[in-house]
Amino acid sequence: MSLREALNIPSSQITDEAVYRDRRRLLAAFALSPALGLSGCAEAEAPPPPKAAPPSPEQIKAGFRTDEVQTSYADVTSYNNFYEFGTNKGDPSAADKTLRTSPWTVAVGGACAKPGKLSLEDLIKGLAPQERVYRLRCVEGWSMVIPWLGVPLADVLKRFEPTSKAKYVAFTTLADRKQMPGIAYPSINWPYREGLRIDEAMHPLTLLATGLYGKPLPQQNGAPLRLVVPWKYGFKSIKSIIAISFVEHRPLTSWNDLQSNEYGFFSNVNPAVDHPRWSQKTERRIAGTGSKLFADRIPTRLFNGYGEQVSSLYAGMNLRTWF
Ligand code: MTE
Repeated sequence: MSLREALNIPSSQITDEAVYRDRRRLLAAFALSPALGLSGCAEAEAPPPPKAAPPSPEQIKAGFRTDEVQTSYADVTSYNNFYEFGTNKGDPSAADKTLRTSPWTVAVGGACAKPGKLSLEDLIKGLAPQERVYRLRCVEGWSMVIPWLGVPLADVLKRFEPTSKAKYVAFTTLADRKQMPGIAYPSINWPYREGLRIDEAMHPLTLLATGLYGKPLPQQNGAPLRLVVPWKYGFKSIKSIIAISFVEHRPLTSWNDLQSNEYGFFSNVNPAVDHPRWSQKTERRIAGTGSKLFADRIPTRLFNGYGEQVSSLYAGMNLRTWF
C-alpha cells in the first residue's frame, strides 16, 4: 500500500509524475515567485518545455543530483515531520492550509555588515533557481530522494557581508499559533531553531529550497523557504524560515535543546554512531511510486553518501564526540 493510500488521499489530488517531468522546467520559473502563483493561462501560452536531461557526471560528482529512484510526489508531501502542524506524519498535509506564505519576510542580522529585513522575493532576487536531487535521511531511520528547487545558501548569505565574528549561522521558524495549530502543544520549545557552522552554511551543497518537484514548496514541506542540508539528519533542515542570524557562538538548536545526548549539534548522518533508541546502520528508503513505508532496509552511508564533498569539513574531529 502506498503512503497516499495509507493516508487516504484521493489520486485525483496527486500530480502524475510523468506530467511533472515534462512540466518542471516551465514550473521552475514560477517556483521562486510565490506572489505570481501558477496561472493556468501562463502554462497554456508557453511553448512546450524541454525534457529534463538526466544528471551529468559532473552534477553527480558534485553531489548536486543523484540518479537514484525518486520518492513519489505523493509520499514526499504526505509523510512529513513538521511539529508546528502536529506530531503525526499525516498531520502536516492534513492540516488546513492556514500558513500565509505571501507576503513573507526574512530578517537577516547579527555579525554582518549589511543586516536587513527583506521580502522573500528580494532575499533571492537575481539568483537562478537550481534543481538539486538529494537524499534526505531522517534520524528515525527512513529516507527519501527529493528533487528540490532552490538557491545555494552561500549565495544569499554573502549578500549580507558576514564579519569575522560570524562563526555560526542560526535559523528560526515562524511560530504563530493562529497559523500553526501544533504550536498549542509544547512538543518543542517554540520557535523551532537550527544552526550550522559557517563553513557548513557556505558549502555548495547547502540549499535554501523554495520548491520541490518543480512546484512551490507545499505548506507541509516548509513553505515558502526551508533549509536542506543533505549530509545531516533531516531535523537540521529547518522549515518556514523567518530569521537568519550570524553569531559568534554555537546557537541553541531545538532538538539538541530537548535532548542533547540524543541529538548532537552537528548531527551528520553516521551509521557508526547509533541514536540511543534507533540503530543508524540501515534505513528504509521510501522511493518510487506506490512505495512501501516498510521498504527493505539498505545500508546507511557516512555523511549520507556525501563524504567526498563534505568530509574535509570535519578533518581531525572525532565524529563520536561531535555527533
Ligand atoms: N522544521 C520545523 N520548523 N519543524 C519541524 O518539525 N522537522 C524536521 C525538519 N524540519 C521540522 C523541521 C525533521 S525531523 C525532518 S525529518 C524534516 O524537516 C522533514 O522534512 P519533510 O517533511 O519535508 O520530509
